[in-house]
Amino acid sequence: MKRLSLVILVLSVILGSCQSVVKSKQTTNIPSSWNVDKTIMDSKIDSLLALMTLEEKIGQTVLLTSNRDVTGPSVNKDYEKLIMEGKVGNIFNAYGADFTRKLQKLAVENTRLGIPLLFGYDVIHGHKTIFPISLGESASFDLEAIELASRIAAIEASAEGLHWTFAPMVDISRDPRWGRISEGSGEDVFYSCEVAKARVKGFQGNDLKATNTILACAKHYAAYGAAQAGRDYHTVDMSDRELRTTYLPPFKATVDAGVATFMTSFNELNGVPATGNDYLLKDILREEWGFRGFVVTDYQSINEMVPHGVVDNDKDAVEMAMNAGVDMDLQGEVYSKHLKELIDEGKVSEEKLNTAVRRVLELKFALGLFEDPYRYSNKERQKEYVMSAEHLEAARDVARKSMVLLKNDKQALPLAKNIKVALIGPLGNTERDMIGSWSGAGKHKDDPVTVLEGFIEKIGKENVTYVQGTKLSRYMKRSDKQSRKGFSEAIAAAKKADVIVAAMGELQNMSGEASSRTDLDLPGNQQELLKELKKLGKPIILVLLNGRPLTLEWENNNMDAILEAWFPGTMGGHAIADIVFGDANPSGKLPITFPRSLGQVPIYYNMKNTGRPIDPSRKINTYKSMYLDNPNTPLYPFGYGLSYTSFEYENLMLSTDTITNTQNIKVAIDVKNTGDFDGEEVVQLYIQDKIGSVTRPVRELKGFQKVLIKKGETKTVTFDVSVEDLRFYDIDMNFVAEKGAFNMFVGGDSNATITKEFNY
Ligand code: NOJ
Repeated sequence: MKRLSLVILVLSVILGSCQSVVKSKQTTNIPSSWNVDKTIMDSKIDSLLALMTLEEKIGQTVLLTSNRDVTGPSVNKDYEKLIMEGKVGNIFNAYGADFTRKLQKLAVENTRLGIPLLFGYDVIHGHKTIFPISLGESASFDLEAIELASRIAAIEASAEGLHWTFAPMVDISRDPRWGRISEGSGEDVFYSCEVAKARVKGFQGNDLKATNTILACAKHYAAYGAAQAGRDYHTVDMSDRELRTTYLPPFKATVDAGVATFMTSFNELNGVPATGNDYLLKDILREEWGFRGFVVTDYQSINEMVPHGVVDNDKDAVEMAMNAGVDMDLQGEVYSKHLKELIDEGKVSEEKLNTAVRRVLELKFALGLFEDPYRYSNKERQKEYVMSAEHLEAARDVARKSMVLLKNDKQALPLAKNIKVALIGPLGNTERDMIGSWSGAGKHKDDPVTVLEGFIEKIGKENVTYVQGTKLSRYMKRSDKQSRKGFSEAIAAAKKADVIVAAMGELQNMSGEASSRTDLDLPGNQQELLKELKKLGKPIILVLLNGRPLTLEWENNNMDAILEAWFPGTMGGHAIADIVFGDANPSGKLPITFPRSLGQVPIYYNMKNTGRPIDPSRKINTYKSMYLDNPNTPLYPFGYGLSYTSFEYENLMLSTDTITNTQNIKVAIDVKNTGDFDGEEVVQLYIQDKIGSVTRPVRELKGFQKVLIKKGETKTVTFDVSVEDLRFYDIDMNFVAEKGAFNMFVGGDSNATITKEFNY
């Protein structure tokens, strides 16, 4: 059968392809990172398309989950049979060299044309070596580290037979109630674009055919992070200005970086579900941005257009999705059910289907699957690379870089290694929570290093006593009545120790998909336990493990030090111990604002000034845009994070006070390490456009650099600011820079006060 199909293929190349195939040609440019010879690719795909029956074509638009892992509400147990029948061309949630090879064989050896399967998976922050959750990784403000984490994820995933990851997630969000805020890179547009590009580069490299690179997928398109009140999957209604200013740029950045695929989001946008949204999928993605790859749905999101209430049944939903330009149906099983009929009825053109199939086949071609469908399922590579010592060391390093020191009164941290520590709290010794949600194929037991294990290795078993103290459960809120039974043991242990380290926060499944919360305080009675411990008068270090900004006013007022460790990944316990005991100096900065109270949400640094801006001293307090019961300012602003050393900024110098279309401003600032440790600082540059044809934010991040400065040393950090940094959507929605005056601020967080004015 296989040989016969090859003969047919060769013949069809010679004879040329049918009319409909020619019409389905893609016109947009192929990103260079795909590294394909277009002529060879076109002829291969033309000939294949000419041979394919309608059913075979539809099969290429179908993506089904295997039952190795389940990441959504449905599984079709017959997927192996469907593969053999050519009814499914793509599988997700299957990994492992042997397993993927077995499934690939079913497709290649049993179907008429032997078209290889494409294997996808949620490789989000690591495959088996798990890195910090994406929000945590973003707190590193280290693009090389972020790229490396994705690179390593791709190396491991590809060795296990995977070709495609459903990452990066580039949804901006400013609402910490939304559980998926943990999967993104925070609130800022400029920074999120940089992170998005780094991740695409890490996954895809510059040659998709290399057996250690995989396709990336920008998700969830679009505006998913703006769900009303942080309720997952909920309504999004926003102006085109806000959409284009805040939510779309990271997606565009991935297109510019050559991202291979896009995933539609579950939400509606201005009344139209994203999965059937012509404006998003046709006008913006294809026409404006020239996106070349294929678009996949989220889990059954075609079917979900029925409960959204824009269509009455699945068949109409398929018509809407396909006509909007959705190329692949993820686990909805409705393209397979209804496309043929819709084509027969003339409601969807075969042309549309051909285009979708071509897009899928192009990427199978770019991956080299037509040359060797088994090239990624490689047991030797799997053995050599998956969880290699090098990867684990990188995970430990990135975890250290991602941690943010929120408070450090009287240098409470780092701790000396010769003291007795009482480690207390529900997250002190839980393997599963270390690796966070969407931790791919990461093992939930044995591999993740807990805080306790990290401490024991660092200071010896005899110096650490661990007591859980209290328990957490996924659905709890702070006001739940909870047992205080474990408190006495915790207090007894604390009494015998020199210092208390509290490992608290959220369980890993309290953030991530479908994990929205209405309370951002430490859940359960963790704070009550801290209050009891505080009575002992001993230093308390709070180590937080969590997936979203929390409200920590009490903790900020009462703890001696607070270290935000997020969910730090496989090597998390070691990384925390490295920081706590001073073998590493924290250098992370918050990629997202931490509010004082939930009532302040949404809160983000680049807000507008309003007509009645608040008086910072709060002396004039009538008719001002302010809360009566709380300051407007957050507890910890965007870009904030301490170090064991201190930095002083001085001598902000601009090469000129005027930017022109051809002349940039070279900015220089001296940053001095004035403390007792070598340390890394994230130097941040913000710009304020003072007057615009539409109102402008109070400031916007336009540059940052992470620099290592030795103690006592001063480094001059430079930036190059160009007219590109001044562009925004003007009153007519043109993306331009407007003439006028601007302020520049440089410093270590978004409250930076060192400033100079310039003009354009
Ligand atoms: C649903 C999630 O929204 C998406 O992020 C994920 O990639 C898919 N399920 C597949 O697991």
